[in-house]
Amino acid sequence: MPGTLLIKNKIKKFNKKINITGDKSLSIRWVLLASQAMGKSKAQNLLMSEDVLAALDSIKKLGIKVKIYKDHCEVFGNGINGFNFKKNLTINARNSGTLGRLILGLLIKSPNKIKLIGDRSLSKRDFSRITMPLEKFGAKFYYKKKNNLPLSILGSNSVKGINYLENKGSAQCKSSVMLAALNSSGITSIKAKKSRNHTELLFKHLKIDIKVKKTKSYDFIDIKQPKEIPAFNYQIPGDISSSAFFIVLTTLADDSKLLIKNVNINPSRIGVITILKKMGANILLKNKKNYRGERISDIFIKSSKNLRAINCPSALNSSAIDEFLIIFLVAARAKGISYFKDIAELNQKESPRLNWGSKILNMMGVRTKLTKNSIKIYGQPNLEIKKLITIRNYLKDHRIFMMSTIAALTCGGKWKIHDKDSINSSFPTFLTVIKKLKNKKL
Ligand code: S3P
Repeated sequence: MPGTLLIKNKIKKFNKKINITGDKSLSIRWVLLASQAMGKSKAQNLLMSEDVLAALDSIKKLGIKVKIYKDHCEVFGNGINGFNFKKNLTINARNSGTLGRLILGLLIKSPNKIKLIGDRSLSKRDFSRITMPLEKFGAKFYYKKKNNLPLSILGSNSVKGINYLENKGSAQCKSSVMLAALNSSGITSIKAKKSRNHTELLFKHLKIDIKVKKTKSYDFIDIKQPKEIPAFNYQIPGDISSSAFFIVLTTLADDSKLLIKNVNINPSRIGVITILKKMGANILLKNKKNYRGERISDIFIKSSKNLRAINCPSALNSSAIDEFLIIFLVAARAKGISYFKDIAELNQKESPRLNWGSKILNMMGVRTKLTKNSIKIYGQPNLEIKKLITIRNYLKDHRIFMMSTIAALTCGGKWKIHDKDSINSSFPTFLTVIKKLKNKKL
């Protein structure tokens, strides 16, 4: 059956070294910032997934030259707001919330209306969270349906910096406003609940005048409009969110070891490691180094037989926001009842992940107690599935597909997992890496 993955056997023990493709957040940010820089920027290990290709297509439509080579990518920026495009332009963010929300920040000066569309999943997601602050800059938005794509943006000629309170812990909203600040005279001040800080680190690397004051729950960010952004080269490190599936595969497999090379371990992204270690996983960070403000290391994982439940502190939520599905799978195999709270945001992702995560665990025979913003998972260390499980991934959520695959490879049973193509959003080589772990010779 095309597009459907059948799994009948658990993975056998393995001992391997792998590389994981480039970080999605950094790849999209590099594309968008390179489009605002002056001259040729170059990226190595740029993630060649649908979300990033959609970003490259979008800036091309906005008049920016892009060259994709086998081992690197070049973007020829025309400076801040250097877009050059015809009337009636439509940009397609496909499956990518990050692209859809961030690119709007770069369009607040657009003299013509630009239409933004996305796929079925993205068209169900909330855009008011970003159009509201961007309206404060003076941009106008025209929705067909309340708060969802498709929408059109019309920019304003005179844009001034704003004060903005980001209260959801959304890096997409924070970053979109930061990109808008590049086009706004004066200072933009943001009070943002903690979330991934790649945009801040890239601004610092580009010598943009940015001040960040950190308190326990909020970051206070001031950005002064720069005159110009220099072209810049970047070597994108491996994606911790993609690595997380292999960290869990190794943790739950029998007697296995895995070394993942060169992964971004930015502290605002490694909630998954902190949480899994608290649950008894064997994870070691080796060869730590700094790269342009980011932290990078190899990750060494060994299988773990004694996993325990967790009462997960909400303070870790934002740093594990894309990894909860796969963390739920570990909770399903841990001793005791795990509790994850204040995670309503999970239902705002590519599909309602909190609800889906719970449903998949129930299909596996694992009991859960679900509310709108929390889940209790009743772990079964000796879980052994005997039946056929069919996953219909109706919004084609890449992380639902990958979580189901890891469950099938570690918990037994027969699995029919639909919508294989969904992995193209973030991790097109996911199944190739699994094949490598199965192949003794590699
Ligand atoms: C992202 C931010 C997060 C995350 C998404 C990538 C980013 O979304 O879920 O996959 O690159 O800024 P929110 O900002 O909606 O939390």
